[in-house]
Amino acid sequence: MDTLVRNEILISESKIREIFTPFSPVNQKELLSGRNVEISSILASINTPGQHALIYGARGIGKSSLANIISKIAADSFNYTVYIKKCCSNDSFTSLISEILESHGYDSRCVESTNEHTEGGGANLSVPFVGAKIESHRKKSEKFSFKSQYSSPSWGANVLKDSRTLLVVDEVDVLVSNEDKLKLAEFIKHLSDYESTFKVLIVGISDTGRDLVNNHKSIERCLNEISLQPIGITELRNIIKNGESKTTLRFDDNVIDDISDISGGYPHFVHLIALKCAEEAVLEKRNEISQDNLTSALKLAAQFSEGNLRRSYEDAIKKQTETSQKVLLAAALCHPRGFLISELLEMKNQAVDPDIGDGAVKSCLSRWVKNNELSIITRIERGHYRFNDPRLISYIKMVNGFSYDKDSIIADILKNEYSKRYVRSSR
Ligand SMILES: Nc1ncnc2c1ncn2[C@@H]1O[C@H](COP(=O)(O)OP(=O)(O)O)[C@@H](O)[C@H]1O
Ligand SMILES: [Mg+2]
Repeated sequence: MDTLVRNEILISESKIREIFTPFSPVNQKELLSGRNVEISSILASINTPGQHALIYGARGIGKSSLANIISKIAADSFNYTVYIKKCCSNDSFTSLISEILESHGYDSRCVESTNEHTEGGGANLSVPFVGAKIESHRKKSEKFSFKSQYSSPSWGANVLKDSRTLLVVDEVDVLVSNEDKLKLAEFIKHLSDYESTFKVLIVGISDTGRDLVNNHKSIERCLNEISLQPIGITELRNIIKNGESKTTLRFDDNVIDDISDISGGYPHFVHLIALKCAEEAVLEKRNEISQDNLTSALKLAAQFSEGNLRRSYEDAIKKQTETSQKVLLAAALCHPRGFLISELLEMKNQAVDPDIGDGAVKSCLSRWVKNNELSIITRIERGHYRFNDPRLISYIKMVNGFSYDKDSIIADILKNEYSKRYVRSSR
């Protein structure tokens, strides 16, 4: 126990958890790697009359980080008052804008229970007080709901249109009601028609972005939709280089390459693996992080990965455990956008384990595809598959402690070969 506590103290004192931060979005401009194109496009929308913006993409791709930095620039350089609202499941359209309404002198709330004694005035109210300007008659036992007028997008847009404000609505995907998403879209449409200086930046997990605004057609023109994609190798490398420069730690160049590759372009995984490498180095009083140190750090990183990635993987390897693990590793080494059965078999034979029979591979695949609930792999079309969640590719490499050595060059050559199919199909 004492050793555990001592280790924790050592790691805390090293400050590496303030440098590699897999679980919190970037908050300082100089720590954001890449994303220049997206920043410039969103700033242009914010400063263009009638335009608003939406950032969508997978979990961990960097949406909140980008929104944070945009918020800082909007406040520091363009004089916007910024509100960042993180949605939770009981939020509604009105609760999203209530704080702003209040700061503009409108109390959007009203009292739900009507027959209680009010403080000061002594009157028994039979109607809730109307939320005009904030004043007088507050209830002692306060149970608030929102006044119906305030749930109207057109009313909200009208009273806020002259305010130089940026409202960032993050995690819009967790809003339960489609009606509230629609109202948010209508709010944007009204602001746009007013050429308002009140701007909205919507952020959420989505494949297409459209579901975040409940497929509202008429806001297409006024919404700049940014699909956030994995970041490039140079930017991934820079996350480690940047972190390294703030410590005495030195990551071997090959380790930086491996981490960048395993991350699949997800900055979250770069932070997570780099952190685990750094923690081990601190405990072992090393400054150098070499490829020999990577395998154990990867396995540790897997343990700290999101619960649903772990559950999905563990469910997939419940049966025929060893074979399943190897087939999944072969699949993870194929192209991230998908693989043909023939490619999977070839990868398994050349880079993982030729002793596993082709029949066993096919039976794993059909078992996974049938399991709808936690399905790890999806069939795109006959004979063509992909991972349900692209982050599983990184997870599988981490859990297997997979680092690139001379034997895995073959896996890279094959993957490059398979990638030609996707280059052709996206032309
Ligand atoms: N461009 C970036 N440069 C450096 N780190 C990033 C970048 N984007 C995201 N991160 C890091 O990746 C992790 C996930 O980012 P986050 O913005 O929370 O993703 P999302 O909101 O899409 O789930 C965090 O640790 C964050 O610090
Ligand atoms: Mg986020």
